[in-house]
Amino acid sequence: MLIPATAILLLSQVGMSNGARLHQRRPNTVFILTDDQDLHMDSLAYMPYLQKHLADQGTTFARHYCTIALCCPSRVNLWTGRAAHNTNVTDVNPPYGGYPKFVSQGFNEAWLPLWLQEAGYNTYYTGKLFNAHTVSNYDSPFPSGFNGSDFLLDPFTYEYLNASFQRNQDAPVSHEGEYSTDVLARKAYGFLEDAIAAERPFFLTIAPIAPHSNVVFSEDWFGNNESVHNIKTTPPVPAKRHEHLFSDAVVPRTPNFNPDEPSGVSWISTLPKQNQTNVDVNDHFYRNRLRALQAVDEIIDGVVARLSDAQILEDTYIFYSSDNGYHIGQHRMQPGKECGFETDINIPLIVRGPGVAKGQVSHAVTSHTDLAPTFLTLAHGGLREDFDGSPIDIHGHSKDETRFADFYPRKEHVNVEYWGFALSEGEYDQRFFWNNTYKAMRLIGEDYNVYYSVWCSGEHQLYDLNTDPYELNNLYDATDHSAQFFFTNTAHLLTKQTTSSHQTGKSTSFHRLLSRLDALLLVLKSCQARSCTHPWETLHPSGDVQNLHDALDPYFDNFYEIEQEKVHFTKCEKGYIVESEGPQSAISFADVGARGGRLWSEFV
Ligand SMILES: *[C@@H]1O[C@H](CO)[C@@H](O)[C@H](O)[C@H]1NC(C)=O
Ligand SMILES: *[C@@H]1O[C@H](CO)[C@@H](O)[C@H](O)[C@H]1NC(C)=O
Ligand SMILES: *[C@@H]1O[C@H](CO)[C@@H](O)[C@H](O)[C@H]1NC(C)=O
Ligand SMILES: *[C@@H]1O[C@H](CO)[C@@H](O)[C@H](O)[C@H]1NC(C)=O
Ligand SMILES: *[C@@H]1O[C@H](CO)[C@@H](O)[C@H](O)[C@H]1NC(C)=O
Ligand SMILES: *[C@@H]1O[C@H](CO)[C@@H](O)[C@H](O)[C@H]1NC(C)=O
Repeated sequence: MLIPATAILLLSQVGMSNGARLHQRRPNTVFILTDDQDLHMDSLAYMPYLQKHLADQGTTFARHYCTIALCCPSRVNLWTGRAAHNTNVTDVNPPYGGYPKFVSQGFNEAWLPLWLQEAGYNTYYTGKLFNAHTVSNYDSPFPSGFNGSDFLLDPFTYEYLNASFQRNQDAPVSHEGEYSTDVLARKAYGFLEDAIAAERPFFLTIAPIAPHSNVVFSEDWFGNNESVHNIKTTPPVPAKRHEHLFSDAVVPRTPNFNPDEPSGVSWISTLPKQNQTNVDVNDHFYRNRLRALQAVDEIIDGVVARLSDAQILEDTYIFYSSDNGYHIGQHRMQPGKECGFETDINIPLIVRGPGVAKGQVSHAVTSHTDLAPTFLTLAHGGLREDFDGSPIDIHGHSKDETRFADFYPRKEHVNVEYWGFALSEGEYDQRFFWNNTYKAMRLIGEDYNVYYSVWCSGEHQLYDLNTDPYELNNLYDATDHSAQFFFTNTAHLLTKQTTSSHQTGKSTSFHRLLSRLDALLLVLKSCQARSCTHPWETLHPSGDVQNLHDALDPYFDNFYEIEQEKVHFTKCEKGYIVESEGPQSAISFADVGARGGRLWSEFV
């Protein structure tokens, strides 16, 4: 569905300041995109300028998610507005990912920078773009869509003190001995100056590597040899001036931090408890992340000061986010990402700008798939039919005016997916865990808050985050007792069921709930466009089911529990090999009727 340009104009102007209308200039956007920054280990609290200029002056989206917790796939998702299963860029290196895969999938001709330019914007980018974007392939082809670009290149991207930058169509330049984020800051300010001087509105991306670990690659890594011998990760490196900070900071000791009992499934469930030496080393790793983020925090201040000097601060959106989250010690894991726990997928998103409420926290469920539609809407560009997300309602329009409801569909789900490895980046137990392939989903309604996943190993996870925010009690495998507790606590969801079935506890309630979650995941794991934003419609085309609540009606028991195929894999793969991924589409309730399927009502 293409939204008419007039509607876009109307939508965007609601949020525009008088200044912006006066200058007849559309709003600018500065997007600061960090790398591996967590929301759940308090990193934002250690960034005073972020608090002052962004959180206090804007809205924090507390339920913002990445859909795949790995740099390159997540960035391609973000810049194309498509789910990873629709980009098929699922790894950091070829054949399944990296810059060459981005190019071969045709996205260098179909991604946000180009659409922004078509909408009349000047676009600038500095910092890390994708993985496997290297000093050898940077010009074959050059990334399209930028008026000015200055990229960090592999194999030096994650070397805090030996970065290689590559500007516009020039050859790469080594910055050996200089601090990567400070070099980046100079480049960002230069582009900001160019952008302010030019006629058209601008979109500037600043993508530092902090707080990613420092990484040295061997050449074999880029020859599709993802082995621990070819990658050396060490703690992030702070700027000299920040080395001494936060000497007492330690990873928050939440209940899921290095727990006494193992948790999770697959490789996570077999991890040993970390000893004190290991915990101390990881706390140091944590402190260096906070220290490395200080130079990023200074960029926030530098950008705001320059926008303010140019008198365009009030006409400029500033977005702050990360490609994915991070864990250190939770569930006994060594430093890393790639998992479906909240630490890895629930990430920072803060927005300030014209018409955005100040000092607010939004609980709207949003994801990186929504960012390209959001940016394009703010630029008054038309939405694309192949977007798998929808614009984020940063102005809160849909709250007040129902005419915006279809433009900003109220979502309760996030589609999460992953293929291939997980990597331990700390000093201890540095290795690859393969078969880290799963389909997952977050579902957050007014009275439910769950995470559900199906792994290529056949294992499942079901967490009730209302009662178990640290995801320690996997209800899928739980004893009847704790599952009973869950279903008693969410009994109001099951009000329509008969007393007798309620008393049978886990068996009935569990299968009722699980069958709905599984069917929704079945839709999401291969959704496209509208089926990604309105997945219940695929199951119930008549529109009478809009959320989990509606779907739990016992009337649909037969449809969900018996007729619907269950999500499963036939094999663990390192990439998106569709033949190994079981059923690809869900049947709809309408089809079951047409095929003469048995309706629940026929049994009673
Ligand atoms: C930026 O690039 C676009 C697309 O090539 C072009 O139309 C526009 O004039 C450029 N802006 C500047 C300032 O050169
Ligand atoms: C820094 O990077 C350059 C290439 O840009 C390389 O030649 C040099 O060996 C590197 N220095 C160190 C200390 O790794
Ligand atoms: C992968 O790299 C390791 C270490 O450099 C090397 O020993 C191994 O032979 C390589 N494997 C392949 C398939 O190239
Ligand atoms: C602590 O654990 C690490 C990682 O398993 C191990 O290498 C180290 O020897 C252990 N140290 C002590 C003091 O047990
Ligand atoms: C991954 O799963 C496959 C089965 O799909 C199995 O053959 C293989 O051994 C597993 N690999 C690891 C490293 O566990
Ligand atoms: C994704 O890419 C891989 C590697 O090129 C390919 O083998 C696979 O078939 C692709 N998957 C889909 C669904 O196109």
